[in-house]
Amino acid sequence: MALPSRVMTNDEIAQMVDTSDAWIRERTGIRERRIAGAKDSTATLALRAAKCALEVANVSPADLNLIIVATATPEYLFPATACLVQDWLGAENAGAFDLSAGCTGFVYALSLAAQTIISGAADTVLVIGSETLSRIVDWQDRGTCILFGDGAGAVVLRASNMPGGVLTTLLRSDGSGGELLALPGGGSRYPPSPTTVLNGMHKIHMNGREVFRFATRVMAQATRSVVEDAGLTLEDIALVIPHQANIRIIEAAARSLGMPMEKMYVNIERYGNTSSASIPIALCEAIESGRIKADDYIVLVAFGAGLTWGAATIKWVPTPPPASPLEQRAHAVRYWWAALRSAWRRFWRRLESRLKGPATASEK
Ligand code: ACO
Repeated sequence: MALPSRVMTNDEIAQMVDTSDAWIRERTGIRERRIAGAKDSTATLALRAAKCALEVANVSPADLNLIIVATATPEYLFPATACLVQDWLGAENAGAFDLSAGCTGFVYALSLAAQTIISGAADTVLVIGSETLSRIVDWQDRGTCILFGDGAGAVVLRASNMPGGVLTTLLRSDGSGGELLALPGGGSRYPPSPTTVLNGMHKIHMNGREVFRFATRVMAQATRSVVEDAGLTLEDIALVIPHQANIRIIEAAARSLGMPMEKMYVNIERYGNTSSASIPIALCEAIESGRIKADDYIVLVAFGAGLTWGAATIKWVPTPPPASPLEQRAHAVRYWWAALRSAWRRFWRRLESRLKGPATASEK
């Protein structure tokens, strides 16, 4: 995982809009969130998380067949953030694309990665959830600016003969609720213009109450469904890692499932809602704090813009030993080499176009 170092507390937000620390904590469970600095972006956070994941998995970027970045705040409309990460990592053998499914993006990407591996089309896939929501939040709208934060998390999925890993997934959508949570400006429907900027159309628009109602309904349903599909019962599940949007949504899901809150992983108080990064960040913390052990069954469950929702049942397999200090140095050299190669290619492309002039008919 990768988080910006800048912490923004509720009290700071209370200086910008009419709210209070007490209200935000009571209604959402959020105490503080991380905010990207000038040098941070969705791609740089994604890269940092990706490097950590590759190191923990002890996988070389050259082994990657596919990179998926789930994000609602891509670096650009295009090229894909995943392609920037591919270049910076020097992942020469990987396809790369972004996936847009709101806060459910990571679960969608995980499901896609697992199915691609099961089909035999890929062996090793890097899945990243990365967001800089602070860049698209309306800092004058108290209904939304209190909720969101920035960060990234990543995992490496690899083909293996060992039983386990991603067992079942569920992906759902209901586009009729699209306007409940949207960023209307900047796409082909409302291309950027002074009017779209003046009307705040490049900021998050949300009907909080309706999203809340939808979320409390689907979280428990999706969890039940993937657990049953895996031939398990809720008692078999060691930990549920829900999307961190609002503590009351997580509590409602736990009540509906008849599960104690100890089985729900919660870190919303420190990071707020980091959209598609929230589950991989929580997963990473849960592993590091020993909440997930080998052979545990866990569930990831999320909902978000679209509307979308989804869940996955995972049997946690023992992670390989992390990279040794020597291997870590080798990784560092690889990244340095990747940067050099990328710079050389840019230079060569410019030189070639100068020397050769416009493309000839045969080149076209
Ligand atoms: N501080 C103080 N008062 C506030 C604030 C605030 N920050 N925000 C709203 N209020 C007021 C409202 O104006 C309203 O006042 P009124 O009764 O005088 O009209 C009152 O508090 C209650 O407003 P509600 O909207 O009913 O408040 P609610 O308890 O529903 O909490 C919240 C609002 C936190 C936004 C909640 O609805 C929520 O969490 N919804 C889900 C949002 C979500 O999960 N979004 C992410 C989706 S994932 C993705 O894809 C990005």
